[in-house]
Amino acid sequence: MNVPVDEGLLLSMFLKMMNAKKTLELGILTGYSLLTVAPALPDDGKITAIDPNREAYEFGQPFIQRAGVEHKINFFPSDALTVLNDLINDGKEEGNFDFAFVDADKQNYLNYHELLMKLVKVGGIIAYDNTLWFGTVAEPEEKVKELALRKGRNDVVVVNNFLAADPRVELALVSIGDGLTLCRRLH
Ligand SMILES: C[S@@+](CC[C@H](N)C(=O)[O-])C[C@H]1O[C@@H](n2cnc3c(N)ncnc32)[C@H](O)[C@@H]1O
Repeated sequence: MNVPVDEGLLLSMFLKMMNAKKTLELGILTGYSLLTVAPALPDDGKITAIDPNREAYEFGQPFIQRAGVEHKINFFPSDALTVLNDLINDGKEEGNFDFAFVDADKQNYLNYHELLMKLVKVGGIIAYDNTLWFGTVAEPEEKVKELALRKGRNDVVVVNNFLAADPRVELALVSIGDGLTLCRRLH
């Protein structure tokens, strides 16, 4: 359910190389990926962390506290579309984020993309997790026997095709973990 260790380490190094300070994270669960991002930010860095599952976040909270990074996290127990729209409507947050990590409901990835393209600054990165979907995106649909896996595969293929053709971003699909797509906002 959470990102594998090597992907977490890559994200952490990446954020340090970017000097990222203000980030967004969609899909927190117990906060494993959050714990790879938070220590990589400076002490006054801030993560807007969104997940409707407050219970799972609270389960992981003691570990976040023990890591000494809770002051960097602003947790919203809510649906990501609502929070992203609120941030945009607020009028002060457009182009204010260095980085966004998206690991929530895959059906909404393209809706998130449109909103994140406003919130993440030009030159910033939007990272989408699970874009290989267990390798099934490279297989023809009919070869994927399991129905739930096929549905997820089809959703992710639509996302991958859209992002690959989006002229507003430079893209790299990194074959780490279950696939990590990095989109750098160009304009
Ligand atoms: C795969 S888990 C995230 C794992 C986490 N990123 C990690 O690596 O430790 C997916 C999470 O997305 C959350 N989620 C589902 N729908 C969401 C939505 N509409 N907005 C925000 N989060 C959502 C789920 O509650 C779940 O905790």
